[in-house]
Amino acid sequence: MMRTPLIAGNWKMNKTTAEAAVLSQDISNRFYKDFTPDVALCPPFIDLKTVRNVLAFDKSPIKLGAQDVFWEDSGAYTGATSPVMLREEGVSYCIVGHSERREYFAETDEMVSRKAKALLAHGITPIICVGEGLKKRDEGAQAAIDFVVAQVQAALQLLAPEDIKRIVIAYEPIWAIGTGRTATPESAQEMCASIRTCLADNAGAEAAQAIRILYGGSMKAENAAFFAPMPDVDGGLIGGAALDAANFIDIVKAFL
Ligand code: PGA
Repeated sequence: MMRTPLIAGNWKMNKTTAEAAVLSQDISNRFYKDFTPDVALCPPFIDLKTVRNVLAFDKSPIKLGAQDVFWEDSGAYTGATSPVMLREEGVSYCIVGHSERREYFAETDEMVSRKAKALLAHGITPIICVGEGLKKRDEGAQAAIDFVVAQVQAALQLLAPEDIKRIVIAYEPIWAIGTGRTATPESAQEMCASIRTCLADNAGAEAAQAIRILYGGSMKAENAAFFAPMPDVDGGLIGGAALDAANFIDIVKAFL
């Protein structure tokens, strides 16, 4: 089964509206329409419309993504953004369960599953993030795998088997995020293969083969080419390097 790689840029809490216009235009200018990987930009909520307009004006195949969502359609939830709102804004992907949301915003496995379910109900692809901390990694590869597989299992909790094939998983070891330290391509592969086995147990082998599993954690142009050949690594969730148009596009090229 050939999976189309996905490269998603997670801008985190960076870029004002004016800066977002410049960065998305720079990325769009460097992007060739015959690039084969799927590409998504995930700016802060407030920048979505700006980035959308830049991409629409250029008739760019680059997709729009968000970094979070709340699971209700509307109501008295101050500060929250619903999947209905994201859909109307033209959002195709939405990150859920990023380790920063788990750490700073107390996001639990149950919340991750609710968010993923709500997104799928509105035709938005959730990019479900999982990953172990350094302490768990230091207990050994198997301990890390058990931890991450349990996170995946919990995220799938509320999803119907036929919906699971529409998700994306991002494996992001916490100790590799923003640290300049990456997992080795081999250990990323080992983890992504274990995640795929878990997906097969939940949704069947065929669905598991169709699901994209990304690696994230200090991926950049200089190392992306080492991850691209790994059979179960289907792209990247890019943080820091997504803020540099040339570097981001070079990562895309590594997955051509
Ligand atoms: P990084 O972030 O590429 O800066 O390590 C990745 C992420 O947190 O999604």
